[in-house]
Amino acid sequence: MNQKQRTDELRNCAVKLAPSILSADFARLGEQVFEAEKAGADRIHVDVMDGHFVPNISFGATIVQSIRPVTSLPLEIHLMISDPDSFLEQFVQAGADSFLVHWEGNNNLYRTIRSIKQFEKPVGVVINPATPALVLQEILAEVDLVLVMTINPGFGSQHFLPMTLGKIRQVRRMIEEFNPDCELELDGGIDATTAPLGVTAGANVLAAGSAIFSHEDGVAAGMKHLQAAINRHEI
Ligand code: DX5
Ligand code: ZN
Repeated sequence: MNQKQRTDELRNCAVKLAPSILSADFARLGEQVFEAEKAGADRIHVDVMDGHFVPNISFGATIVQSIRPVTSLPLEIHLMISDPDSFLEQFVQAGADSFLVHWEGNNNLYRTIRSIKQFEKPVGVVINPATPALVLQEILAEVDLVLVMTINPGFGSQHFLPMTLGKIRQVRRMIEEFNPDCELELDGGIDATTAPLGVTAGANVLAAGSAIFSHEDGVAAGMKHLQAAINRHEI
């Protein structure tokens, strides 16, 4: 099997990996995104933080513009900012492929979702650890993905919160009932130990930052380690 066949095979497996570049080495960002793609990443997760919505600042649309030419993978933009609506257009122009927007702090979430759809981009709704699954009830039919935060958003390298597992199972049940095509993504503290827990609970997409980009043997090794843990579980 050549490298391309192996990459395609990894990408087609049921659980999709979305490396989060928050933990990447920014001096070698293009190279690291390329390595993640080669190792079978399904999409690249881009965490945008404004220092208001979460107590940290990351980066904006120019980073999306910079990595756009180095990968053919979809770029999913996780907006952790107070006013997502005002920034959608610049991210679309920079090359964004989909958006993840929080339920929290958005008085007009449905308007935000409509705006994203007007750009013809898939949209996911994100809920924080303390937010109950039930808030999704009115909006579930309108979205392509639900992302359950498995840490408090704002920083990479935090520990997975086991209290979210019951909610992940609940969201999976809601998806099966109301929108079976909807994806269920987890974000935060995903590693070789927690990935199988999340998948067992019903997730089919895992965002992971430090487990991939801070792996001591490099990006490809980080990807492989996660894939092996998931595959062991799937068997
Ligand atoms: C944090 C971000 C995450 C972060 C996860 O708010 O949304 O995507 O990169 O990092 P790890 O996988 O290291 O917990
Ligand atoms: Zn994220």
